[in-house]
Amino acid sequence: MFYYYGRKKQIAKHYPSPNYECIIEPFAGSAAYSFFSDNWRNQVILIEKDPKVASIWEWLINEATEQKIKNLPDLKVGEKSSEFLHIIHAATKMAFKYKTITVTPVLARNWEISKRVMAENLQKIKHWQIICGDYTMAPDIDATWFIDPPYMSEPGMGYGFSSALINYEELAKWSLSRPGEVICCEGEYGDYLPFETLLDLKGVAGKSSREKMFYRSPHSPAQLRLVA
Ligand SMILES: C[S@@+](CC[C@H](N)C(=O)[O-])C[C@H]1O[C@@H](n2cnc3c(N)ncnc32)[C@H](O)[C@@H]1O
Repeated sequence: MFYYYGRKKQIAKHYPSPNYECIIEPFAGSAAYSFFSDNWRNQVILIEKDPKVASIWEWLINEATEQKIKNLPDLKVGEKSSEFLHIIHAATKMAFKYKTITVTPVLARNWEISKRVMAENLQKIKHWQIICGDYTMAPDIDATWFIDPPYMSEPGMGYGFSSALINYEELAKWSLSRPGEVICCEGEYGDYLPFETLLDLKGVAGKSSREKMFYRSPHSPAQLRLVA
């Protein structure tokens, strides 16, 4: 729905389609997996620890109308903004540290695109639910769990609530104890679950990054399940 550092918009099609009526994203961000294709039609429950991110979802779900979104001002290159919803469109992992930002051409363009996407697709997310809090607050129900935490490498980089604050051993146990099917995302260096390479992403200036996934299907053997 909106630009977000680390969002899964471009690669959402590579993950398994949901086999359960309910999708839970315990590290919501902009929830690109739930929004992708027809996934949004399911019951969707988002959990997000950063109150600023959660409040974007609260506003979109409970208050926003197409007209209210269209009425939000466009941004002009060179002006300053202290709006968190603008700041996250700056396309940098450092955006979360800024209180005020000077609008760049990239930010202005990303904001213009997001405004259009949010207005055109608002009705898709009106039945979704957002919980502001820790991932462990997710309801313990059968679901397709799309677990996309801040990646293990680069502790402290990006996000208001970064990887430095996550105990990955606890996260692994919790993920394996989820009822239903489990999709876990990681980068090249995450090693707390038996991740496998999903794809290599080409970035700018010839840099590439590896996306990994751990998938436990509804039919996986019992050793991939933990009883909490
Ligand atoms: C990699 S991003 C998720 C990106 C998302 N899949 C998307 O498509 O936009 C990780 C998110 O987890 C949130 N987060 C960090 N620690 C958390 C925690 N303990 N519980 C819930 N959310 C947390 C961060 O604020 C961030 O929004």
